[in-house]
Amino acid sequence: MSKYGVAIRGIGVSIPEHIVWNDDLTGLVETSDEWITSRTGFKARRVVSGDQLVTDLAIESAKNALAYAGMQGEDIDLIIVASSTPDYIYPAACGVVQQGIGALKAFGFDMMMGCSGLIYALSTAVQFIENGTAKNALVIGADTHSRYTDWYDRNTCVLFGDGAGAFIISRHEKAGETDVLAVDFMLDGARGQEIKLPVNRDNCPLTTPRQNIEKSAIYMNGREVFKFAVGEVPRLMAETVKKAGLTPQEIDYYVLHQANARIMTAMAERMDIREEQMIVNLEHYGNTSAASIPLALYDALMSGQIKTGNTLVLCGFGAGLAVSTAVMKWNCVDHRTDAAPATLQTKSLEVV
Ligand SMILES: CC(C)(COP(=O)(O)OP(=O)(O)OC[C@H]1O[C@@H](n2cnc3c(N)ncnc32)[C@H](O)[C@@H]1OP(=O)(O)O)[C@@H](O)C(=O)NCCC(=O)NCCS
Repeated sequence: MSKYGVAIRGIGVSIPEHIVWNDDLTGLVETSDEWITSRTGFKARRVVSGDQLVTDLAIESAKNALAYAGMQGEDIDLIIVASSTPDYIYPAACGVVQQGIGALKAFGFDMMMGCSGLIYALSTAVQFIENGTAKNALVIGADTHSRYTDWYDRNTCVLFGDGAGAFIISRHEKAGETDVLAVDFMLDGARGQEIKLPVNRDNCPLTTPRQNIEKSAIYMNGREVFKFAVGEVPRLMAETVKKAGLTPQEIDYYVLHQANARIMTAMAERMDIREEQMIVNLEHYGNTSAASIPLALYDALMSGQIKTGNTLVLCGFGAGLAVSTAVMKWNCVDHRTDAAPATLQTKSLEVV
């Protein structure tokens, strides 16, 4: 039995300015806008430039989430950063965020679970709140896969984009109430090699000739990951809805990791989900890994599609191979006093 319930207090996002369109990639690899659009749904992706770091995006998303929640950095006592594309292996990104937002009393850690990282991080923070260890937690999903992509591999370079998204969750003020109704996970390490970002293990000139030292870049067996996603994700989502004590009819929206438009269509068919219940904004951002769920949710909130009181299923999947799911009530109040910012989608469409 949990000691405390959890309230979702804020959401914030951050995307780099620089846009890479499908057509920009035809100069690098043999591909086409038609292939990328029909196979993935992606039209553009954002990528960091110059010395912009994943932690810069993480900090901006955190500041935006604090503004949404009407809170200050000093209110935060736990920071979890989900990222598989760190600026540094150490120090951990949570410490950089701590300094960036002035959450000087907060403790924290990073989590490396690929595209399911954000929900793993969120549900971990939920437990720290439920057992009383933390009162206000900041959970960030931030990735800059552009730094780890082989831009001359057409199998992967068309897929990923950079971005960050943050949630703030707090101890619920009302005893016995909670916005996070259920969480669940699955992990199949046997299929772990289907998507990987290897670390160079032969970096010793005394044992390995220089020309044999491989560069570290993303590899993905797209077909296998596709099959995994379409097979496992609907199963786990259905189980988590049941665990929350709900029926599928009581779910308003599904906010899934934005990996591929065809995956979402296949899942919707399998689960009898109406097209308008599936939140899709991937055409503008590509696959932003741990950031994609808050980016999609934020866009749907700003466009008015998702409203206060809606019941949501959030689901991340990918590297591991892993899946993570959360069922939640969206009761979060936007405390920002300035005119509501344009949706991110509108922002990128303006450039078209
Ligand atoms: C990656 C993905 C878009 C590839 O689509 P696909 O329909 O499975 O395509 P395939 O990998 O079967 O490749 C088909 C052909 O297109 C080619 N191809 C691959 N990338 C291409 C590109 N960017 N442009 C043109 N052709 C391309 C392949 O070389 C292959 O050619 P071949 O038949 O001559 O060998 C798709 O498999 C996918 O989205 N998988 C899941 C990704 C995911 O869920 N990730 C989540 C974790 S991050």
